[in-house]
Amino acid sequence: MKINRFAIYIATIMTLGCGKAYGAIPEKTPIIEMVADNLKLTLMVGEDKRVYQLSFGDADASISLPEKTLTREQEFLPAYGNGVITESAIQATHTDGNTSTDLKYLSHRCDTVSPDITQTVISLRDFAYNFFVDVYVKCYKKSGMMEIWNTIRHDERGGKVVLYKYASASPILKSNEYWLTQFNGKYKREATLEEERLGEGIKILDSKLGVRASQYRIPSFMLAYGHSAKEREGEVFAASLRWSGSFQLAFDMDWNKSLRVLTGINPVGAHYNLERGATFTTPAVLWTYSKHGKGEASRRFHRWAADYAVRDAEKLRPILLNNWEATHCDFNEERLVGLFDGAKEIGAELFLLDDGWFGNGEFSRDDDKHGLGDWEISTKKLPRGLSYLAKEASKRKIGFGIWLEPEMVNPKSDLYTRHPEWIMTQQKREPILGRHQEILDLTRPEVQHFEWQVIDNTLRPNPGVSYVKWDCNRYVTQPGSQYLPAHEQSHLLVDYNNALYRLMNRFASNYPNVMAMLCAGGGGRVDYGALQYFHSFWPSDNTDPLGRIKIQWGFGHFFPASTIAAHVTRMGKRHLKMAIDVALSGTFGIDLALDKATPEERKQLADGVKLYKNGIRDLVMFGELYRLVSPYETPLAAMSYVSTDKKKSVVYLYQTEDGNVPMIRMDGLEPEMHYALKEVNLPEGVAPRFASSTYTGKQLMETGIVNPLCSQFDSAVLLIDKVK
Ligand code: DGJ
Repeated sequence: MKINRFAIYIATIMTLGCGKAYGAIPEKTPIIEMVADNLKLTLMVGEDKRVYQLSFGDADASISLPEKTLTREQEFLPAYGNGVITESAIQATHTDGNTSTDLKYLSHRCDTVSPDITQTVISLRDFAYNFFVDVYVKCYKKSGMMEIWNTIRHDERGGKVVLYKYASASPILKSNEYWLTQFNGKYKREATLEEERLGEGIKILDSKLGVRASQYRIPSFMLAYGHSAKEREGEVFAASLRWSGSFQLAFDMDWNKSLRVLTGINPVGAHYNLERGATFTTPAVLWTYSKHGKGEASRRFHRWAADYAVRDAEKLRPILLNNWEATHCDFNEERLVGLFDGAKEIGAELFLLDDGWFGNGEFSRDDDKHGLGDWEISTKKLPRGLSYLAKEASKRKIGFGIWLEPEMVNPKSDLYTRHPEWIMTQQKREPILGRHQEILDLTRPEVQHFEWQVIDNTLRPNPGVSYVKWDCNRYVTQPGSQYLPAHEQSHLLVDYNNALYRLMNRFASNYPNVMAMLCAGGGGRVDYGALQYFHSFWPSDNTDPLGRIKIQWGFGHFFPASTIAAHVTRMGKRHLKMAIDVALSGTFGIDLALDKATPEERKQLADGVKLYKNGIRDLVMFGELYRLVSPYETPLAAMSYVSTDKKKSVVYLYQTEDGNVPMIRMDGLEPEMHYALKEVNLPEGVAPRFASSTYTGKQLMETGIVNPLCSQFDSAVLLIDKVK
């Protein structure tokens, strides 16, 4: 179809805030341009009124209007069944049984939401049906983030429209070569980086787990043009879906080497019957772009997250002592209070009581087979209740937090005995357990009420509880509801996750002063949909520093260090120094039996805590991440945080294998500034391996410093400070 040069609405389009006139383009061409700092999305309306994509990427690149025709492969939001032959973003069956949809331009508007945010809404309609899609594109100027989602509704007579596909966005990328980085893994090996060159055809990365859905893969990825993604150079896109349920990321390369990237809720088994007048809102997908490698793309995500996506980004995260690795469910009041003493002695700021504090009688939570769902305090283990513990903690000037898993139930529980119909399962099938537990069906109003009561009844009578770890230890294997009617069974996982967000939102808004950690049997639920209600997340139950390095490295591509909980444990029995050094690069905490630690170990931990408080925490919370040497390419992992004023930096070096990377080049510093470098966190009697010295930023970044580390398990932390 030809470009519509006579559209009457162009005058409006060209004068709206988000648009920018093209010199070379005839004045009356309907162009919609959306810019988020260096990332630009340009659309145009064809003569056939369909919306086509002209560009997605570098905001500085000039856009030329196609000479003759636009093909359907360039349609911005292709719908199935009337001419689209590639992967479609939208697929619906209308009330008369027609399986095709054809979306055309209706109108658009652009609003300035704040000095940093503009939002464009492009309204599309299938003119043969009263079927409407509004595309939302929110542009964040400061961080260069573009957030895209859709709403779908209809006003068709005669029943429901069935939505079979409802991608959140499907922009087209254009290069000769694409390198895809995904972050896959499994329990205890989360967010492992894997990169591949894409070929023609469709590649799908997905989750069908419904709940704790990112256990095997997070809904975030990077795409580099021309060669594998580098830290400091090359064009890189990074994207992340704000959805905690099953997701699908589809990369469809056609015969012209155009790459359409469809992201959204996984449509498998999830067709949605949309009532007349009702609105289906897709989750948003975030896109950012860098011309200078993936390091900048990560920093854009971190900046955006601090401004818009995590709770209280300006607040320091407390140093926790968690008891899970130390005690599992086997503890009593005396043991816990003893651990409070240890926490105080080493300088920790909050005690987090993990799983095992509830359930009574035959359902006492003494292991993971019993008591989940019965949220009354264990009178056997904690006869004086949570308030007593909170008071004892407070006497020692430490905070007190609590573990919850409101979404789950053990069959061996009072709750299950009373409400077997509350669990998610398939009729005529034997319920399948995961970690000896079932998932409560959150689409059921009584379950929604119950889960809110679990939270409220724990926190309201115990105002001394100032922290919550929200866990979720299994995924869905039987997506069936005993509550939803037969024709809505396929709504279950979509409705579950929307109900979950309502619950999390209720928790966050009713308890604004309670900090919260998102956890799902390790890092099984890490996404910007859920994270907005939390302060940090638990990336993995793998706290062996050797494994943890790569896990934190992976998550750090999208999530700021202030959200990545990192605890010192004795897992793997590594040198305590290495365990501390690794935890110092995230939201520091400790999870070990302090009462059984030697005085030397306690001293080493106390020194680590002091260093974190005095020299490192600000940099972890508010600094900018620079990945210096990748553990995926060398025996060394090296990374740093640099303060935004460039006056301070902390550098971490970890040998994951034997071998030497001779020089470490820093990044992100001011070339002309003079810096003093010194090695810190040295156990007593150990001489520094890095000589204290002064350098210019240029020297540190261009020549680098000599690295003496060469043996597996060696690690070092360096502080770099501007010389006064
Ligand atoms: C899984 C979490 O990842 C652990 O940290 C711990 O909280 C256990 N659940 C408790 O059951």
